[in-house]
Amino acid sequence: MSAFRIPVCMPPEAVRAMAEVRALNTAADGEPSAFVLTFGCQQNEADSEHLRGIAAEMGYRITDRPEEAELILVNTCAIREHAEQKALSIIGQYKHLKATRPSLIIGICGCMVAQQHRVEEFKHSYPYVDFTLDAASMHRLPEMVLERRRGGRRACTYAHMPMDHVPDVVEGMPIHRDTRWRAWLSIMYGCNNFCAYCIVPYVRGRERSRTPADIEAEARALIADGCRDLTLLGQNVNSWGRMPDGSFPEGDFASLIGRLAELDGDFRLRFMTSHPKDASDALIETMASHEKIARHFHLPLQSGSDAVLARMNRRYTAEHYLGIVDRLRAAMPDITLTTDIIVGFPGETEADFEATLEILRRVRFDMIYSFIYSPRKGTPAAEYADQIPDAVKHERFDRLIALQNEISYERNLLAEGKTLRVLCDGEKVQEGVILCSGRTDGGKLIYFAGNARPGDVVQVKVERAEPFVLRGVQI
Ligand code: 5AD
Ligand code: SF4
Repeated sequence: MSAFRIPVCMPPEAVRAMAEVRALNTAADGEPSAFVLTFGCQQNEADSEHLRGIAAEMGYRITDRPEEAELILVNTCAIREHAEQKALSIIGQYKHLKATRPSLIIGICGCMVAQQHRVEEFKHSYPYVDFTLDAASMHRLPEMVLERRRGGRRACTYAHMPMDHVPDVVEGMPIHRDTRWRAWLSIMYGCNNFCAYCIVPYVRGRERSRTPADIEAEARALIADGCRDLTLLGQNVNSWGRMPDGSFPEGDFASLIGRLAELDGDFRLRFMTSHPKDASDALIETMASHEKIARHFHLPLQSGSDAVLARMNRRYTAEHYLGIVDRLRAAMPDITLTTDIIVGFPGETEADFEATLEILRRVRFDMIYSFIYSPRKGTPAAEYADQIPDAVKHERFDRLIALQNEISYERNLLAEGKTLRVLCDGEKVQEGVILCSGRTDGGKLIYFAGNARPGDVVQVKVERAEPFVLRGVQI
């Protein structure tokens, strides 16, 4: 197994199918449109940009109105039950669209349909769904669409992925990005970590990295095109470039981001997501010595209890985690720290939960993403006997949020009076007043009075902090 995959291009059958659908669309009355709906994480957002890109290449106009679309793609998430139920409910609403317009093609993509039981469900209970396509097979979209356009059979088929199988890295897939000034840039796919609660390694397959040359070429093109904010994406970016024997023949993540931060242009680099077991001191040093790497580190903790971390198969201790935080703050005192926390993991005692609260009090994160544990079929933790009752999970969740809200507010107050670099990304109308909205280098939301347009980078003086937003004026 190799962590680097020799990249492949879109297969010739797919390229041919893309051209054939395009010819059909050119000959059709009007201009058929495609609607892509995305659930879940940034990786899914990035995948949807490829789905839109392929759809556009097939001659579909991209629309945000499902009711007018001839092609609907739902890019699904399987990380929690709630995400799956939300997708199923929306997909259910498309039944009547298909009833009034039988030519409509509906495809379900992404993580949900890399699970056999969900594919069976779509096949048998959602007859208006035309095909399913998992994330590692997106490049097959044109063939799926062409088959249905020609009146061929539905294709809700489960593609079994053996546990040691490393899917291809497909380069050169068309891409349709909505904005020029901000971009996702995938540097790797899949995950080898098998945290006990997580479905990702099963639905996205083994870890594989894009080559440094492909990543750099894409970064250069984006920056030349006006990109101001680039987020390098991967389930565990800290293990980018790692071979099965633990070596890094093309350099490690610290060297990759350092190299990208040397590129010319006024931009910031971000990255998501990191794993505490792999976040290196070299990465911290590289961040500290490159202004173009945003002062923001998202480092999922999941739990503050060593017993829970061990049962989660996270392979670090709370002490190790705190060590990284200390080193980050020593190197970059103004860094924004954010994390992910799961409450109610099987067997979590009140003392375990208290240990998580204690870490929150010590670290004082700027923000946390908190999740109630959701058993995922096929993962080890779903089989653990000591599942926590819903009422206890919810009660802990509320306590966690209450504590963090106080801390987030206190962290935001530290920004009052400071002048920060802000990337404007839109506007916000509040009480009849139009304000600019944007993000600081640390990734914080800020509303400000000024004349910045989306994509502009401006200096903003912070006048007031609120628990979840900063307010200021452009200078
Ligand atoms: N239940 C609850 N939260 C989960 N996450 C991943 N799997 C689950 C699950 N089964 C959370 C983790 C991860 C984030 C993206 O989602 O905190 O870091
Ligand atoms: Fe899931 Fe853990 Fe991989 Fe993150 S590192 S995707 S939580 S298995």
